Amino acid sequence: MTILRLALVFHLDSEMASPLNKTLRIEHLPVSLDLPTLDVASTVNSERSGIFNGDVIDGLRRMGGWRFDLIIADPPYNLGKDFGNDSDKRTRTKFEGWTRNWIGALTSVSSETASLYICSDWKCSGLIESAMADAGWTILNRITWKREKGRGAARNWKQNMEDIWFAVRDPKHYVFNIEAVKVEKKVIAPYRQDGKPKDWIQTPAGERIRKTHPSNIWTDLTVPFWSMPENTEHPTQKPERLIERIILASSNQGDRVLDLFSGSGTTSVVAHRLGRRFCGVDMNPDYVRLGLARLKREGYECE
Ligand SMILES: C[S@@+](CC[C@H](N)C(=O)[O-])C[C@H]1O[C@@H](n2cnc3c(N)ncnc32)[C@H](O)[C@@H]1O
Repeated sequence: MTILRLALVFHLDSEMASPLNKTLRIEHLPVSLDLPTLDVASTVNSERSGIFNGDVIDGLRRMGGWRFDLIIADPPYNLGKDFGNDSDKRTRTKFEGWTRNWIGALTSVSSETASLYICSDWKCSGLIESAMADAGWTILNRITWKREKGRGAARNWKQNMEDIWFAVRDPKHYVFNIEAVKVEKKVIAPYRQDGKPKDWIQTPAGERIRKTHPSNIWTDLTVPFWSMPENTEHPTQKPERLIERIILASSNQGDRVLDLFSGSGTTSVVAHRLGRRFCGVDMNPDYVRLGLARLKREGYECE
């Protein structure tokens, strides 16, 4: 046990000391005394982008009249994680009531053609699905993301997945840019028609590939880790590539993306990079600062 602990300490020390460690840390950020909030008195409006410090339900109330084309919400899963507050440590009943509350408030800030994605783990997945359906959203899919993180459990199966529910306001009118998210697949049986490749191409390296429609099981995305420039101190940061796939598929340039429970700002950062407008909300001021620092790195100055 002692050897194990020593090995862990050594591993953490060398990880922190390594010049390859790109983690953005809160202690390195400038302290801003007046972080942007969604205060009624402020001049914010839905045309401007930004990450705001505040409570999601309160924020949604203050956004009256704003209309977002895409909403991506990555809420606490009630697993007891430390987000610098008690938001992940509710009783089951309180968590259910609160979840239904904020999901119920989303229709008032969504456009008629809006799409909604909500992340969950297996424990709260059922609740999220029923709250979305009860709030009037048409659920079109459940994406399962296979994510490798953490050690296994001794007396249970290792937790290795997250669900992302995908719903729309109007199943007849919504954006889905399939060409932007097609994936390359190795062709096992390279059929030919009249001697020519049928639906596949040969790369310069000689590989036979086909661009196919992505499925609802995502196995090609790792969680951010310490040597990746996108990594921050946030304990449950989503990978940029995962968010990128969602934004590319379900929005167009210039659209408005709502980043609820923005944490380290992943959705806002990717939305900006892809030419969308964005509005992030998180109650932890340090996470808002992380998000603003990431945006600054992208050349974006929040007003
Ligand atoms: C799962 S994390 C989001 C991580 C984020 N997607 C990222 O990539 O960094 C959930 C976040 O919700 C925030 N949070 C929890 N309750 C909140 C509330 N009522 N209002 C605003 N933010 C809240 C926490 O501070 C935490 O950063």
